[in-house]
Amino acid sequence: MIQAGIEALKRYGSSVSASRPVSGERPIHHELEHAIAETYEVEDAVVFVSGHATNVSTLGYLLGPKDLVLHDEYIHNSTLVGAQLSGARRMSFAHNDPAALEALLARHRGQFERVLVVIEGLYSMDGDAPDLKRFVEIKQRHQAWLMVDEAHSFAVMGDTGLGLREHCQVASTDVDIWMGTLSKTMSGCGGYIAGCRELVEMLRYFAPGFLYSVGMPAQVAAPSLAALAVMKEEPQRLRDLHTISGYFLEQAKARGFDIGDSIGVAVVPIIVGSSVLAAGLSDALLKHDINVQPILHPAVPEKSARLRFFLNCEHTREQIDRTLDALQAEWQARTEQASSK
Ligand SMILES: Cc1ncc(COP(=O)(O)O)c(C=O)c1O
Repeated sequence: MIQAGIEALKRYGSSVSASRPVSGERPIHHELEHAIAETYEVEDAVVFVSGHATNVSTLGYLLGPKDLVLHDEYIHNSTLVGAQLSGARRMSFAHNDPAALEALLARHRGQFERVLVVIEGLYSMDGDAPDLKRFVEIKQRHQAWLMVDEAHSFAVMGDTGLGLREHCQVASTDVDIWMGTLSKTMSGCGGYIAGCRELVEMLRYFAPGFLYSVGMPAQVAAPSLAALAVMKEEPQRLRDLHTISGYFLEQAKARGFDIGDSIGVAVVPIIVGSSVLAAGLSDALLKHDINVQPILHPAVPEKSARLRFFLNCEHTREQIDRTLDALQAEWQARTEQASSK
């Protein structure tokens, strides 16, 4: 991936200098978009220079004041900002609760022209995932669009990394708008929308964050293209990721840690119940060479302050045992210290 970036930099220079419809288009943009569309088994894809801007521009452009956005209560800020920009009405439903979505649709669908339901493939604070089949069935019955943000699920979920649809065995065309970022498993920076030709073409011509913003630098596009190839050529990495994440989950549970609703794919939180404790444990673990970030109030409610562990395919069982042992010891030391005061 590094080599691909270097080659692209040498070939195309460090900036494409203009928006793509003007003179910023380079062949590597097409190669990346083609590869994403092919991976999703949809007609087309378009890449934006930022994942956040992808959601802001897409929602902001597609919807208007006569429309409604229904989203999971834990949805990322980029969807909220996009919905706000669009002027559409916005309502949230309880986390990962299709029945709550259904109730909102039954009550409000008739008052709006278009309704967009937005969910994520894997929720980054909790490591849990939606039941995609149920969401598809509901959105079809109520003639709504469904958008899935795969920032944390693409190249993570599913036996071959195809994301939530592979995990849930749902056809890619059952989802109207696939969105993802290139800044996580794709080793770059930017975001994409994948779907039918008409959707992508409209975004290419009208989405402000595409039309009026510079094209992605080639040295940013090239590593993502290479990462996609690695995902396809080395499926063992996915198997290793799932095995090691499952091991972490299992061992954490066996030690009595609260892992919430995590399904044990790449993201596993350990809920410690206080922001001070989470920050203290994170600091203590760094001294053991373990880098885990605390998630504190107000990002999550105070009683669910947590340490958020990210697993990758190269982690080993020994590292995990050592991490959980160190966490147990540090936590116990703090509990004893508090009770002796
Ligand atoms: C669910 C979700 N969507 C969108 C984004 C924005 O992506 P980026 O940081 O690549 O701009 C993020 C970033 O963390 C995210 O978690």
